[in-house]
Amino acid sequence: MITRVETKVPFHRAALGEEEARAVAEVVRSGWLTMGAKTFAFEREFAGYIGCRHAIAVSSCTAALHLSLEAIGLKPGDEVLVPATTFTATAEAVTYLGGRPVLVDITPRTLNLDPEDAERKISPRTRAMIPVHFAGQPCDLAELYELAARHQLRVIEDAAHALPSAYRGARIGTLAELTAFSFYATKPLTTGEGGMITTDDDRHAERLRVMRLHGIEQDAWKRYSGEGSWYYEVLEAGYKYNLTDLQAALGIVQLGKCDCLYEARRQIAKRYTEAFQEAPALEVPAVLADRQTSWHLYVLRLHLDRLAIDRNQFLAELAERGVGASVHFIPLHLQPFYQRRFGYHAGDFPRAEREYRRCLSLPIYPTMSDEEVEQVIFAVLDAAQAAAR
Ligand SMILES: Cc1ncc(COP(=O)(O)O)c(C=O)c1O
Repeated sequence: MITRVETKVPFHRAALGEEEARAVAEVVRSGWLTMGAKTFAFEREFAGYIGCRHAIAVSSCTAALHLSLEAIGLKPGDEVLVPATTFTATAEAVTYLGGRPVLVDITPRTLNLDPEDAERKISPRTRAMIPVHFAGQPCDLAELYELAARHQLRVIEDAAHALPSAYRGARIGTLAELTAFSFYATKPLTTGEGGMITTDDDRHAERLRVMRLHGIEQDAWKRYSGEGSWYYEVLEAGYKYNLTDLQAALGIVQLGKCDCLYEARRQIAKRYTEAFQEAPALEVPAVLADRQTSWHLYVLRLHLDRLAIDRNQFLAELAERGVGASVHFIPLHLQPFYQRRFGYHAGDFPRAEREYRRCLSLPIYPTMSDEEVEQVIFAVLDAAQAAAR
């Protein structure tokens, strides 16, 4: 009989401190709240950290994906390959431009877009693919880029989880034509809400800067010596997708801590894996020699044939033991919108469904105490043992 545990380990707690509070207060006192010097400084520092030519700050990763698809000239009816296991934003952004997200099954090893299934889903209308580095684990990029080159597909990487991640020594954010990052509240670097696009392409960078703010050419006035700083030109129907200096102030402080925060998550992941790898009912995330995961999520998988309970019951058992866990993600083909609009059905992506039914995400964040990590380990092993068959 399990007695209810009083102390609760939440699924997430943001790693924010006095330094972030001071940085935001400084912006408030400066009187300049929206996009300005802080945002541009954050962009320069982010580009320096990633090792790319340009970083363009935006209001979310969803906005980053939308602007990136616009930058490659996606047209209505164009198809874009997207993994079935992702957050809706990845596929939703394709629909903003009238495109069709074409779902692809995942490879169980990484839980990422499967290059072989991607190839099967290519049609004459396929223009691009958006590989998602799920949980921070980089996709099989060599195979995906080879496929993209053979079929002349553009590649936009969804790196919402992948800061800092690396593939064969190259940091994620340096490999794709365009890479989209998220600074949402639970992400490895947070500004509350926010995002960034990285690119080495000068023309993309110029267009992204114009399109993120109403299609306005900000530097137009400089070209007309007679005009004042009030002068601007509207070149396109753009979007209101800029970041603010309030958010950028947070981002600069968080970026300075990014490596320490990563190291703290890595240590927690190491402890989990050491504790769980011998348990017969548990499957730990793959650590692959040629890539580095950011450990944004620690996705544990259950061998359901060795348990008398299902994943949902396992989550309930963890809750009983004071541990908040979650599930990432419900595959998109199981969602009403994708079924209604694009005709997907349950059963279309067997691997995505199988992994979904047996996966759960454990708490992994730098502010977890040693005792909290121990509590999670105990709860998982105890729940697995109690339900073993
Ligand atoms: C894989 C993935 N892509 C995109 C997004 C969208 O990010 P944002 O909330 O910054 O728009 C998320 C958010 O959770 C995500 O998990």
